[in-house]
Amino acid sequence: MTKKMCKIRLLIVSFLILFTILSMDSKSQNRGRTALDEKVRKFLMEHSTKWHDMNIPTADGQTLYDIIVKNNYKSALEIGTSTGHSGIWIAWALSKTGGKLITIEMDEERYHKALENFKEAGLAEYIDARLSNAHTLVKELKGPFDFVFSDADKDWYKQYFIDIDPKLRVGGCFTAHNIRYRSSRKSYKNGQDLFLDYVRSLKNYETTINRYGGGISISYKKAIRLIKR
Ligand SMILES: C[S@@+](CC[C@H](N)C(=O)[O-])C[C@H]1O[C@@H](n2cnc3c(N)ncnc32)[C@H](O)[C@@H]1O
Repeated sequence: MTKKMCKIRLLIVSFLILFTILSMDSKSQNRGRTALDEKVRKFLMEHSTKWHDMNIPTADGQTLYDIIVKNNYKSALEIGTSTGHSGIWIAWALSKTGGKLITIEMDEERYHKALENFKEAGLAEYIDARLSNAHTLVKELKGPFDFVFSDADKDWYKQYFIDIDPKLRVGGCFTAHNIRYRSSRKSYKNGQDLFLDYVRSLKNYETTINRYGGGISISYKKAIRLIKR
């Protein structure tokens, strides 16, 4: 065999080895993803009747998951972690998009339980959980965010939205829990009503309400068109 042929043979063999390693690596990544899915599913199944801290119902978790995956959102904020049920659905979706969740809770006991749950579900690496009063922390966070789930004190919903709006990307989505369709003739307005009136008054947001489960408002941020004079 000539020297030239030897070199070509060596090159082909090296290429084949490299190709095999790369394909093995991508297969093992797929296996990793499936293993995480199995772990999260198992956790959610085992805990399905154990959420007693004002946590969202499963149907709402699925709604949040679908919004994030469908829009490929990567930077999420949750206000009101409690023990972590919604956080787990959000983080699970972010594990698909390569994103991360910041979630805020002010009750120490629930915060620590949530940390345990995130770890047990295998999702801790996708979550930055903060023990803090969201009234101040939301103002301080830099963002930008492309997905927000508001589920803490309802009287503050409008203010949370006002604080987050400049940090929410165009194309992003602001969701809020326990929002139901209400008659416009209603005389007493609670925190959710005031929030809903406000977000619906903004031309650059399109809001729908998902009435299944606990009721979720879903507001997508659109680009503001400059009006030519
Ligand atoms: C309805 S629960 C959240 C449920 C959670 N999203 C879930 O589905 O698992 C509301 C939580 O918000 C927390 N919270 C209320 N006001 C808050 C505030 N100002 N800052 C941070 N957390 C707050 C409460 O302690 C409570 O745990």
